[in-house]
Amino acid sequence: MFALLYDVIRWEEKAIAQAAEKKGVKFSLVDSRQMSLKVGKGQKSAIKEKVVLQRCVSHYRNIYSTAALENLGHTMINSFQTAWMSSDKLFGSIALAKAGVPTPKTRLAFSEEGVLKALGELGYPAVIKPVVGSWGRMSAKLKDEDFARAILEDREYMHPSYQIYYLQEYVKRPPRDIRTFVIGGKTVAAIYRTSAGDWRTNTARGGKAEPCKITKEIDDISLKAAKAVQGRFVGVDLMESPDGLLCHEVNNTTEFKNSVPATGIDIPGLVVDYISAMERR
Ligand SMILES: Nc1ncnc2c1ncn2[C@@H]1O[C@H](COP(=O)(O)OP(=O)(O)O)[C@@H](O)[C@H]1O
Ligand SMILES: [Mg+2]
Repeated sequence: MFALLYDVIRWEEKAIAQAAEKKGVKFSLVDSRQMSLKVGKGQKSAIKEKVVLQRCVSHYRNIYSTAALENLGHTMINSFQTAWMSSDKLFGSIALAKAGVPTPKTRLAFSEEGVLKALGELGYPAVIKPVVGSWGRMSAKLKDEDFARAILEDREYMHPSYQIYYLQEYVKRPPRDIRTFVIGGKTVAAIYRTSAGDWRTNTARGGKAEPCKITKEIDDISLKAAKAVQGRFVGVDLMESPDGLLCHEVNNTTEFKNSVPATGIDIPGLVVDYISAMERR
């Protein structure tokens, strides 16, 4: 028994619901937009199931509802700890580095001066990413100092979160990256995402999903990265650098629409199995 918490029903949520129905696992669909959550000690939750699978697309709704539901005693997939560490690129990088997971060289700055100093150390090209965001949105490849200044000028007119400058070395990788899926401490599937021209390989930007063999190196780094953020069900992004695999982020509430047909792995079914096994423990 579990609750599937959503705001928008995507392919993924439908697939999880269908998998649960097929396996005879009871679940309820909970629309986060209709919820009123109690805050405080010893309060009773309106959701009767103990396990809640968090599937909200909205970043803030996802994190805040996770915090409130966990406080009401629910077991969240993923926990609040995982949600905050993997929904912000800086917090994620810190968690990966602390756990000894190889990750690209990263810098943080708060002004043009700080950014140019960091870029001087990282070298060009380098990458700038918003700390909160996905699908490659607003990430830019900085070719040189002029380009960096132009991007920063735009950011000065945006929400203050866009003035938290997260900078990274540009990893010399093939025109693809690797996305793996870790469920309950197992690497269950992996795809290559090959770019369709854009330097970002996100499938949301037209990156093509192709099957990828889970080698020992891929398995090891994926498990270590998932563990670094205490992820129960996460998507791990990897790049093939000349010095071996690097993990650049761990994704909470991950999408898998393109990975299921590319790998033939029943990711929604495995998520449901994981929840069932969790409840038996
Ligand atoms: N440091 C980097 N060097 C080279 N390519 C990168 C780097 N960081 C990100 N990318 C490319 O951009 C894509 C999006 O970056 P990512 O950090 O995963 O952010 P998002 O949350 O938007 O997916 C990656 O999948 C990869 O193809
Ligand atoms: Mg990514």
